Amino acid sequence: MEKVVVSLGGSVLVPGDDDARYLRDLAALFRDVSTRVKLFVVTGGGRIARYYIETGRALGIGERTLDEFGIAVTRLNARLLAAALNGRANREPAKTYAEAAALGRRHAIVVMAGTRPGHTTDRVSASLARFVHAARIVNATSVAGVHTTDPKKDPTARLLERMTFRELIDLAGKRHTVAGPSIVFDPVAARVVARDRTPLNVVAGRDLKALRSAILGDPFRGTLVV
Ligand code: UTP
Repeated sequence: MEKVVVSLGGSVLVPGDDDARYLRDLAALFRDVSTRVKLFVVTGGGRIARYYIETGRALGIGERTLDEFGIAVTRLNARLLAAALNGRANREPAKTYAEAAALGRRHAIVVMAGTRPGHTTDRVSASLARFVHAARIVNATSVAGVHTTDPKKDPTARLLERMTFRELIDLAGKRHTVAGPSIVFDPVAARVVARDRTPLNVVAGRDLKALRSAILGDPFRGTLVV
């Protein structure tokens, strides 16, 4: 069975917009596609992580501790998703890539979250994809793919349907320096997928049709990075 890693942004999972209904539909989709591909889902922290990071930063707390706050929230989100999957996934998010791979032999779906300070769950997804030799990574975000400019600020932003790994690296910028950055795909993660040449599908995670197609490797609305 092909392995697929989904990097599921917290901004998709828990933006505070009918999240319970979305989680139910998402869990049904994951259960359905898990008969065709082995799914590894890595959850992000979203605005709840950002809240803790920003509040902590205003208190003068160091970046490493702020990253740990972010990790705790990503793990809570993974537990929420695991519970919604109702027995199809491991309950406690995997802490290491080896543990995730081992869990993949016992569960239809594996959930994982943040691991260590200094990166984001995109990076965890990229490294996990390398570890399990995934066929592709799906980056489920709050926008419909990579655009020419920020589509949330610029109504003339155009969706890029295809781009190269080099273009992704240039777009992602340098490296993780502070907790809670807001970028399309973590720059270190971009380098990892480029080195391994793991195809990356960027989709709007709330567009379940696009998400399903991107997971299964069918044509989808979004950006294909190859
Ligand atoms: P996210 O992966 O959600 O990062 O982790 P993000 O890109 O800021 O947010 P999304 O994509 O909109 O959801 C939240 C924060 O948790 C810390 C980082 O500070 C990150 O920004 N984190 C996460 C780590 O330090 N290590 C990890 O492995 C994961």
